[in-house]
Amino acid sequence: MTGRLAGKVTVITGAGSGLGRAAALRFGAEGAQVGCADIVLDKAEATAADIAAQGGQALAIQLDAASMADNERMANTLTTAWGRIDVLYANAGIASVGSVTTVSEDEWDRVMAVHLKGAWLASRAVIPAMEAAGGGSIINQASIGALVGFSGIAAYAAAKGGIISLTRQAAIEYAHLGIRCNAVCPGTVPTELVKETYERRGGLDLRNRMPLEQAMAANATRYPLKRLGTAEDIAHLAVFLASDESAWITGGVFPVDGGYTAA
Ligand SMILES: NC(=O)c1ccc[n+]([C@@H]2O[C@H](COP(=O)([O-])OP(=O)(O)OC[C@H]3O[C@@H](n4cnc5c(N)ncnc54)[C@H](O)[C@@H]3O)[C@@H](O)[C@H]2O)c1
Repeated sequence: MTGRLAGKVTVITGAGSGLGRAAALRFGAEGAQVGCADIVLDKAEATAADIAAQGGQALAIQLDAASMADNERMANTLTTAWGRIDVLYANAGIASVGSVTTVSEDEWDRVMAVHLKGAWLASRAVIPAMEAAGGGSIINQASIGALVGFSGIAAYAAAKGGIISLTRQAAIEYAHLGIRCNAVCPGTVPTELVKETYERRGGLDLRNRMPLEQAMAANATRYPLKRLGTAEDIAHLAVFLASDESAWITGGVFPVDGGYTAA
């Protein structure tokens, strides 16, 4: 343990897989107490068990990010167990496929509910505890899909754009309480969500239909650093934003994307 998050009570939504799981393991290794929240309790429990196995402290929480009651229960569970909340990483998300004209209304509504409403509800639930603790750090998982257009992810991109605006709102509204709020915009990291997106689209995007492995390889060549990301690439920034090293950073929007949005 290196202790960059020692003494901090943290919670990560969508901690059962992919980017959330990698961040949870890093937070635990940096000395944080980690609430691992996920809609699939078994996966949250597996992440919490792995944190405990590496000598950290964690607890698993079942949460549907889109539920106000679940978010409030999550915050209560953390304050009951550990007395405070210092860090929220609102990361839970689902894949979505469809252009402006083809995405279904049901899919649009669920994507908005999990991603955008979920980020709002998580902040809403933890901010009182952060205020009581004298401050905190909220990290919202956006995407480079909020910064540049990609064909075939209309609802997802719109939700992520909303998350960036929500991030700036929270940064301004709660700065006087010492609560910071920043957004992370990952480029492509081959997780379950990305694989599902590619498989449902039939390739890299709606115009270039190809098998999954070929689509991944083709995508990597589009990145100036000539590779896709790893979950750890994103977790490194999350640790920094969760820690006091970023004490004078709020309202920021940070691509972690191998240069994609600089090109
Ligand atoms: N992987 C990428 O390339 C990439 C890029 C940009 C942004 N993101 C974002 O990162 C976040 C994590 O995605 P990932 O790639 O790690 O995907 P993933 O599928 O590996 O993990 C997502 C996790 O969220 C959980 N989850 C799904 N719906 C939930 C809900 N309603 N409530 C609580 N938990 C729920 C899943 O069970 C899963 O454990 C998402 O917000 C995604 O949009 C991912």
